[in-house]
Amino acid sequence: MAERRAANRTAHRPAKGAEVPGVAPRRLALDLLARIEDDGAWANLVVPRALDRCDLGDADRRLVTELTYGTVRQRRRLDAIIDPFLDRRPADVAVRALRLGVYQLEVGFPDHAALNTTVGAVPKRWRGLVNAVLRNVVRSDPPRWRSLGEELSYPDWIVERLETDLGRDVAEEALEAMNRPVAPTVRADGYTQDRASTWVTDAVGALPGELVVDVCAAPGGKATGMAASGATVIAADLVAHRVDLVVENAARLGSDVHAVRADATSPPLRNRSADRVLVDAPCSGLGVMHRRPDLRWRVAPEDPANLAKLQRRLLEAAAPLVKPGGTLTYSVCTLTRAESVDVVEAFLDDHPEFGADAPLEGPWESDGPVSILLPQREGTDGMALATLHRAPQH
Ligand SMILES: C[S@@+](CC[C@H](N)C(=O)[O-])C[C@H]1O[C@@H](n2cnc3c(N)ncnc32)[C@H](O)[C@@H]1O
Repeated sequence: MAERRAANRTAHRPAKGAEVPGVAPRRLALDLLARIEDDGAWANLVVPRALDRCDLGDADRRLVTELTYGTVRQRRRLDAIIDPFLDRRPADVAVRALRLGVYQLEVGFPDHAALNTTVGAVPKRWRGLVNAVLRNVVRSDPPRWRSLGEELSYPDWIVERLETDLGRDVAEEALEAMNRPVAPTVRADGYTQDRASTWVTDAVGALPGELVVDVCAAPGGKATGMAASGATVIAADLVAHRVDLVVENAARLGSDVHAVRADATSPPLRNRSADRVLVDAPCSGLGVMHRRPDLRWRVAPEDPANLAKLQRRLLEAAAPLVKPGGTLTYSVCTLTRAESVDVVEAFLDDHPEFGADAPLEGPWESDGPVSILLPQREGTDGMALATLHRAPQH
């Protein structure tokens, strides 16, 4: 704290008209925060696009990403730090700047750098307020957190849901892990994909010459991965522009993937035609909140139950495509039981012709017929997966 105060006393003022170095990335971060929070743009889409168009150097680009993602992710925690110093909430632009400034203090940027650069990036009329509040934060003790959701910056319902589904300690570790950014991994063929998705592809176990149907395939990460084993892959997706992504990725990688636009609740394929079917279903995404920093604020408490109904329908519609003796793999990048264990158990209850394979080992743990990959185990996405075998005589 003493060091922080000293830094503040010596904060330098640039010559009139000159911009403090480091202001430009903060200004871009503030612009991006407005687009994410006011216009509803997805952080993982809008940030890379803006960086492609800006003329900042590499270090500043990395800084913009860290500041934007971190400030979005930590919003609730940052607000809890800021709120005691505000009589009433100022304009959104000032609130965003306060969050951005406090985020930098929280992750250890020097006080003077965090303050000067943030204040310099704010419209003039808000500079006094932003400067005063940030100085107060620097001088204050850390707040007493009123809840785990406030401390780790998640909506309470997500904390409660994961605590119920995973147990308190495991849930807390998962939530902490999903506050740490993950570095993207690149496959041998150049496709960027989290290791957890590669492991799902491995679990499908496609063999040379087999026909594999991936009913929810876009952008094609798993489809192209499965094709690399020598299988022929039919990759379907409901959304036309997402089918285009599969086409582009398959062409770039030279994969034997046939992309089609199709609704997986009624797939236009012959029954018993596929050796393997993958249902990599749309889900609440609560296992990938480290990669999608705004997701936690966008998912609604009723989403897991609603998505579970769709997931159950997708499994039901995919099952007839599987040849006798073939496999049906179900995967989701979430950690709720409603979307994993409950979906798979309900399916197995209705389909005696299918049985679950033994859960996976290694970093995976099991919950009934489902293998769960917790994000804290290997620093990957969180996943749930089940491999269901169709009996040879059915
Ligand atoms: C988790 S993503 C798939 C990711 C993909 N398997 C990969 O590894 O790159 C789920 C996909 O399901 C698609 N989807 C949602 N509802 C669908 C439906 N009824 N039929 C087919 N695809 C659907 C979404 O458009 C989305 O692309």
